[in-house]
Amino acid sequence: MWLKVLTLACVVNTLLPSMAVNSSLVDNLWKIVPGDVSSAPATDKLQFTSPSLVVCAAQATAAQSSFFCHDKVTCVIITKSILTGYLGVPSASLEWKCYLTGPWCRPPFMQVRDLGCLQFDINNLMNFSAARTSCPPPATLWYPKSDQQAATIADYLTNQRYPAPAGGVCGSSVPLPDGYPGPCRPTGTATCCNATGVCGGTTADCTCPTCINYRTVAKAFWTGFQRKAGVWTYDDNRTVMDTLGVAPWGPIDPKNTYDCAAIFFAPAYNTYYQYSDVNCTASSYASICLWPELA
Ligand SMILES: *[C@@H]1O[C@H](CO)[C@@H](O)[C@H](O)[C@H]1NC(C)=O
Ligand SMILES: *[C@@H]1O[C@H](CO)[C@@H](O)[C@H](O)[C@H]1NC(C)=O
Ligand SMILES: *[C@@H]1O[C@H](CO)[C@@H](O)[C@H](O)[C@H]1NC(C)=O
Ligand SMILES: *[C@@H]1O[C@H](CO)[C@@H](O)[C@H](O)[C@H]1NC(C)=O
Ligand SMILES: *[C@@H]1O[C@H](CO)[C@@H](O)[C@H](O)[C@H]1NC(C)=O
Repeated sequence: MWLKVLTLACVVNTLLPSMAVNSSLVDNLWKIVPGDVSSAPATDKLQFTSPSLVVCAAQATAAQSSFFCHDKVTCVIITKSILTGYLGVPSASLEWKCYLTGPWCRPPFMQVRDLGCLQFDINNLMNFSAARTSCPPPATLWYPKSDQQAATIADYLTNQRYPAPAGGVCGSSVPLPDGYPGPCRPTGTATCCNATGVCGGTTADCTCPTCINYRTVAKAFWTGFQRKAGVWTYDDNRTVMDTLGVAPWGPIDPKNTYDCAAIFFAPAYNTYYQYSDVNCTASSYASICLWPELA
């Protein structure tokens, strides 16, 4: 027993020469999050035996890791910066608890002021029912919690995320904060990011293998918004006014032709991103996912 403790102490000392170890380290820096490290290969992790959560957290900090899991016996520290497959995955066993340190939004999610950690998934265009299950757990389709949020996201999409880029430069040399390549404005004559990373509108600009046409992929986004039994509702069951042009609708919506709605880019009506009712089976829209607040 003592030998074991002594051995552990040595291991810890080697890895961690002078880090102050106390429980406020865990409380202040780390949040419990869903996670699973059972499939992590050796190249992605540091693993050692320790009954102490605090030691595990301190080691993770020392290793400049932002994610670790502990089951009261074993500490597994993920050393990769991309946490896909580990973070947000339900743990196979209740004994495991996983911890994440800030920043709390990780690509492809990003913090959008007043809205939370959002993912603008433009790489997968799909219908509404597919979008419902497309967000990586525990994320779900985003929807506005208030009329104010409906206006905030429209403003963000129109004026911050998809405005005309400076000098027409787009692509991986000017990435967005969430890692997506810098976009072009989805309206006008230069909606395509071409192979050299310049916005243009010719066939060559729009159809090369690496070209992205933002008129297509940033045109509309599914969110948690639907007409159920004839009543427009958000996923938290708040009712949406069925009145033309009243927030969050655009000026000519809802037409009440369809039971789904998307934040739709409609510059012809000078509304930019606003809600329009759209065909639920149209598999041509992107989605906006929300990473839940981590308790
Ligand atoms: C724990 O560490 C924090 C920050 O390093 C320090 O402010 C605090 O006084 C320490 N608490 C104890 C009980 O040692
Ligand atoms: C991309 O567009 C710019 C500006 O029109 C042009 O100079 C460049 O040649 C284009 N790249 C390709 C690969 O077509
Ligand atoms: C919304 O209503 C449905 C059906 O009445 C219910 O199952 C669901 O839990 C409600 N959702 C919320 C967030 O209250
Ligand atoms: C939505 O798309 C999925 C995947 O392409 C397909 O399996 C499903 O049948 C579609 N559902 C509807 C309602 O169109
Ligand atoms: C909705 O779109 C589907 C194709 O995805 C089409 O078959 C259907 O007719 C459309 N419904 C309406 C009412 O336009």
